[in-house]
Amino acid sequence: MNRNSVTDVRRFILTFLFLAFLPLVATVGAQEDAPSQASSTCVQCHAALDGALAQPAKAFADDVHARHGYTCADCHGGDPSAEDPAVAMSPAKGFIGVPNPAEVPKLCGRCHANVALMRAEKPGLRTDQLELYWTSRHGMLLKKGDTNVAVCSSCHRAHGVLPPSDPRSSVHPTRVAATCGACHSNKTLMARYGLPTDQEAEWRSSVHAEVMLKQNDLSAPTCNDCHGNHGALPPQVSSISRVCGQCHVANDEYFQESPHRKAFAEMGLGQCEVCHGNHAVARSSDEMLGVEDDAVCASCHAEGDAGFRAALRMRQAIDSLRTGIEATEALLSRVEKAGIPVDEADFVLREARNSLVQSRTEVHKFAVEPVLNVVEAGFKKLAEAQRFGRSALHEIRKRRVGLLAFLAVSLVVVIGLVLTIRSSER
Ligand code: HEC
Ligand code: HEC
Ligand code: HEC
Ligand code: HEC
Ligand code: HEC
Ligand code: HEC
Ligand code: HEC
Ligand code: HEC
Ligand code: HEC
Repeated sequence: MNRNSVTDVRRFILTFLFLAFLPLVATVGAQEDAPSQASSTCVQCHAALDGALAQPAKAFADDVHARHGYTCADCHGGDPSAEDPAVAMSPAKGFIGVPNPAEVPKLCGRCHANVALMRAEKPGLRTDQLELYWTSRHGMLLKKGDTNVAVCSSCHRAHGVLPPSDPRSSVHPTRVAATCGACHSNKTLMARYGLPTDQEAEWRSSVHAEVMLKQNDLSAPTCNDCHGNHGALPPQVSSISRVCGQCHVANDEYFQESPHRKAFAEMGLGQCEVCHGNHAVARSSDEMLGVEDDAVCASCHAEGDAGFRAALRMRQAIDSLRTGIEATEALLSRVEKAGIPVDEADFVLREARNSLVQSRTEVHKFAVEPVLNVVEAGFKKLAEAQRFGRSALHEIRKRRVGLLAFLAVSLVVVIGLVLTIRSSER
């Protein structure tokens, strides 16, 4: 072997090694680049296009997936490093184009139902969305080929996906109603299924929406709290009729023990919704109880039946406690204006008010006795507060008499003095 051939062999080996390791080097480089979206040619090119072709690239900037380091190709396939569109979007590189709705659950589920992947990428994130989705009305109809139903991207968007805790997210509690309403308030779409389209409007008029949207109290329910996010129902309830009991625990417990549970079931009725409605739940009032025309009881109970008599007595008891509290409040405010502190009596009065609040929950036992017991406990507290008020008034009267007597004596003394001075001047 001459020197030249030795150099040739060396060159050959070096070239071989270089070529052999090039793909590895390139892969390592690509992996380092992956978290940065700028390196995806899909985004670069699409951002410069128009309309529906550019929108995904723009929305993707803030997407939870982009922030995690994914590119367009993680959903659409293709080669996110190729400049040439024919290569970047070639089926040979796994490009699938625009997925049709029927394919979306599996597409998202590929990662979201992959327990091992999720545990590594985002520990703690649930992985049951796909499984639950197939149990929902949406999922069942999609399986039958109906693509009008909601798929993952109808509720979450395909681009610009944000965690539910982000106030801009389409599934943030304050925005869920609009997201569901995009289909459920659509008359043409829902006519096909014979479904009403008033759920969103009714919900917006409810006490629940008022509390959530005006008082920013996210513990009030919106669509998914009652119907479930992904499954047919929230996991902790067995039927839509039990959904209110997730939050209104005592009302539910009392109702289940009441004569109405069996009676309503036999009539094929729901539970709470029979009296409160489901979407347009209004703030309740004492007027709902009793036998007047606007009381809910009057729609089923008529004069002479046990329910009618019970409704009447429960309402009378609650009314008497309420008017008793009002009268005591007036008494204590007179006392306070006269300058006597009423803190102690206020505390007792607060307990009477609690009894009033509790009596309205006791109503759900739909029996007279429990309401009377709570009202009676309230009256005991009222009596205490009234005793305080009356003795304070008595005290005030005594002080007034004392003051008048003092003034009268003072006047006599002054007149006496004046007379004495005048007579001594003379
Ligand atoms: C150099 C520009 C360019 C690059 C790079 C590019 N695209 Fe496109 N893309 C286009 C244009 C132009 C269209 C519309 C014409 C067409 O369908 O070919 C399009 C269409 C699409 C569509 C819609 C296809 C359809 O059937 O309507 C999807 C989805 C898409 N691109 C995703 C990607 C992804 C994912 C990547 C990266 C892996 C990518 N694109 C890279 C220019 C590009
Ligand atoms: C998380 C998965 C996912 C990612 C990431 C993703 N897409 Fe999509 N894309 C979809 C789905 C699903 C659709 C189908 C339409 C729908 O459901 O809204 C879609 C539709 C499209 C369309 C058709 C027009 C439209 O809006 O319906 C284009 C174009 C497109 N994507 C381009 C891109 C580009 C470019 C990127 C990267 C910037 C990207 N996509 C990233 C899931 C994704
Ligand atoms: C390539 C895997 C992959 C695909 C495909 C995918 N995701 Fe994700 N997704 C993730 C990962 C990983 C996270 C966690 C990211 C993080 O928070 O850092 C995530 C986060 C999310 C979140 C936020 C969860 C939270 O509470 O933080 C939502 C919502 C979401 N994805 C919806 C979708 C939808 C809808 C689709 C289909 C259109 C989809 N994903 C497709 C991997 C994927
Ligand atoms: C009918 C609307 C709807 C559909 C369809 C839907 N989601 Fe959701 N998803 C929601 C709502 C609402 C939340 C927010 C729940 C909350 O506030 O905790 C959510 C939450 C999530 C989260 C955050 C973690 C969690 O489970 O709470 C992920 C991830 C997610 N969805 C993925 C998916 C995937 C994947 C699919 C398709 C298989 C899908 N979603 C289909 C409405 C939907
Ligand atoms: C993309 C459109 C779309 C979106 C978004 C959507 N739905 Fe639906 N939903 C449908 C269609 C279509 C049906 C089928 C009607 C039927 O049940 O016959 C349906 C059925 C239902 C049903 C069963 C009704 C019944 O009695 O048959 C419920 C409950 C429901 N959706 C709740 C929701 C909730 C809650 C959301 C939001 C978190 C939502 N939907 C978002 C289209 C949608
Ligand atoms: C406080 C709980 C609650 C909330 C919040 C709620 N629903 Fe309902 N929804 C119910 C109950 C209960 C039913 C009655 C089910 C039955 O009679 O079988 C129902 C029925 C439905 C139906 C079947 C058709 C109908 O009108 O009877 C659809 C569709 C529906 N809801 C969608 C929605 C949408 C969309 C939202 C949000 C705008 C929403 N719901 C909010 C409890 C709720
Ligand atoms: C996710 C929890 C949640 C669910 C589910 C729920 N609610 Fe509520 N509800 C609330 C909150 C929070 C308030 C506001 C409490 C307040 O400000 O007095 C409220 C208020 C009410 C009120 C007004 C209370 C008053 O003082 O008059 C009624 C009535 C009511 N809900 C009935 C229902 C019925 C009926 C259902 C089922 C169809 C239901 N709720 C489901 C959380 C819930
Ligand atoms: C037969 C009719 C009827 C049924 C069924 C019914 N309620 Fe009521 N509910 C009433 C009446 C009447 C009031 C008002 C009582 C008052 O103010 O004197 C009321 C008041 C309420 C209140 C406000 C008072 C409080 O307890 O804080 C809530 C919350 C409530 N109901 C929830 C429910 C829930 C949850 C269910 C189902 C488990 C239910 N109701 C079933 C008639 C009913
Ligand atoms: C949807 C119809 C309906 C409504 C509304 C209704 N009830 Fe009833 N109630 C019944 C039925 C049915 C029974 C069982 C048969 C019976 O005893 O009359 C019953 C039984 C009762 C009973 C037990 C009576 C007994 O035999 O001891 C009481 C108490 C009662 N209801 C009170 C009320 C009160 C109070 C209201 C209003 C807040 C009310 N009901 C609203 C249908 C209704």
